[in-house]
Amino acid sequence: MAFEESLINDVLDHADIVQVVSSFIPVIKKGKNYVSKCPFHDDTNPSMSISPERKMFKCFVCGTGGSAISFVQKYLHIPFIEAMKKVADISGYHDERLDKKQTFVKPEDPEKMPLLKCLKDLTLYYQYALNTSEGKEGLEYFKTRNLDHAIQEKFLLGYSLKDGQATCQFLMAKGHSVKTLEDVGIATLVNGNYTDKNQGRAIFPICDSEGRVVGYSARRIGDGPETKYINSPETLLFHKSSILYNYHIAKEKARIANCIYVCEGFMDVFALSKIGIDNAVALMGTALSSEHIAMLRMLNVEVRLCLDGDLPGQTAMMKASKMLQEAQIPCMIVDNQGDTEDPDEILKSKGPDALRFYIQKLLNRVDFALKYFKRSNPLKTAEQKRQLISEFVPILLGIRDQLDLDNYLHQLSSVTGYDIDSLRSLLKQVRNEQATKKPEDIIRSFHPERKVLRRLEMAEREFLYQMLQNKEAISFYEDKLAGFYDETYRQVANYLVDYMQKHEGFEPVDLLASIEMSDLENKDLLVNEVTTLYLEKTHPQKCDQQLLNNLLEAINGEKERIFEKDMLERSLEGKSQLEQARILAEYNRRKAKKKI
Ligand code: UTP
Ligand code: MN
Repeated sequence: MAFEESLINDVLDHADIVQVVSSFIPVIKKGKNYVSKCPFHDDTNPSMSISPERKMFKCFVCGTGGSAISFVQKYLHIPFIEAMKKVADISGYHDERLDKKQTFVKPEDPEKMPLLKCLKDLTLYYQYALNTSEGKEGLEYFKTRNLDHAIQEKFLLGYSLKDGQATCQFLMAKGHSVKTLEDVGIATLVNGNYTDKNQGRAIFPICDSEGRVVGYSARRIGDGPETKYINSPETLLFHKSSILYNYHIAKEKARIANCIYVCEGFMDVFALSKIGIDNAVALMGTALSSEHIAMLRMLNVEVRLCLDGDLPGQTAMMKASKMLQEAQIPCMIVDNQGDTEDPDEILKSKGPDALRFYIQKLLNRVDFALKYFKRSNPLKTAEQKRQLISEFVPILLGIRDQLDLDNYLHQLSSVTGYDIDSLRSLLKQVRNEQATKKPEDIIRSFHPERKVLRRLEMAEREFLYQMLQNKEAISFYEDKLAGFYDETYRQVANYLVDYMQKHEGFEPVDLLASIEMSDLENKDLLVNEVTTLYLEKTHPQKCDQQLLNNLLEAINGEKERIFEKDMLERSLEGKSQLEQARILAEYNRRKAKKKI
């Protein structure tokens, strides 16, 4: 026991509790200590305190507390000894006594054991097959992909012989049951015989984070019509969304290099390995998942996204970097510099120095996003600009440094053409109202280009307000106005008209409730608009025919101006087809009227 205690003490001595906790959940520095939302109860405010000095954590709400080891133990629901190993791992602390504890078996292992053993034998079989005369095809294929002997060994590459029945017979002769063959997802029945699903393919074993083979990706040889890669199905061992290819090797290297590259395919991992970079993993074509995030967080290093240079790869990096930012994991993005190739193709076509150069050109998320949007968005219409801004606001909200923020606002302003002050005040509004309003709604009603339309908007707004007060205004609208120019106002007005046909009168809250319960796609926006109108204090005017006539005149006058030809184009931009048709019809109607 004394031995155990001194080991525990040594591990804790070498551990930084803040580093340990922050490899699982985000922490914030507060004075001498750190705080974090407590993961052990449903916490909304950070109520867990972490003291680096005392090497302890404590939640003052639910009472949970303890050392770095007990944090990991509770957080991951694993035995104490396992947690101790993890803590040592995170702290980079090596101790022979910990290796001796290797014999500790996780509780779920008994069920997995036969599957793991089966895959171990199968991997050896595939590796062996590669070097037989029947396996020449596989070896030739690896040669064409520049995967030399060292790479083959390192990544356990193999070949599945064309005789897939032989594979299954081999495994059964080794004592693996048919059930196990099915459970690992290898065997399929062909004419009553168990056959290897991977037959005739190049084999890329996939390991879990401990380096045990849990599945395979089997590539067709050459460019035939068959599926490029056949992957193991989901099994007790193999969950694609929680596997990062090469994680077991990369995790150690990443701690030394202080960063980890995340690529799309394992071919890219090989390419990086060939230029001496082993801190690289691959998503294997899936999207970054929350399990992946947890695995990356555990490493406590910068994540460098290096997905393909083509548009899907770039789009996936936008999403992945957002997820990483939300998880507060430092992230940089490899700039494709206009190249659409993947790292493997770059190495092949341009050589090792080009690839080395390629992966060193890093952008932070904001710079990457700006570049991405400039390229993928023509940014002609107000709608596209708003789209860009809505992608950007969450990013900008995460920037603490004022100079950086100004710089980005400036760039955003030059890309959208909106003045920097409008953007700044929008950001301020989102920040202030985050708690009560969805940022998307605030951004959706951001229309700096509307300044030209301001007079019209004011008149329509006032008219709509009057409609929300009394029936006369509604009838007046129906009789005299062909509809508001502003799409949102028009929708509210039309809603009101419909509503009045079904109801005698209305209470503002009932009207609101009715909109809220409707199945209108943008009902949030309408509700926002209606509540603002009811609650803002700028409507002193009493409603009478005179006021309505004045407003009508103002609206029609302004509309006339807007429908001048150049405005027509502008007003068509970014509108739906239906909306465009409506505007054109109105324009033609007016033109015809004038000629008469
Ligand atoms: P890619 O299509 O980019 O593969 O898919 P690659 O790495 O360039 O492969 P080569 O160079 O054509 O041989 C990236 C990853 O997506 C998964 C694989 O894991 C691959 O590594 N993928 C792709 C599949 O699972 N199935 C497929 O049919 C294609
Ligand atoms: Mn490729």
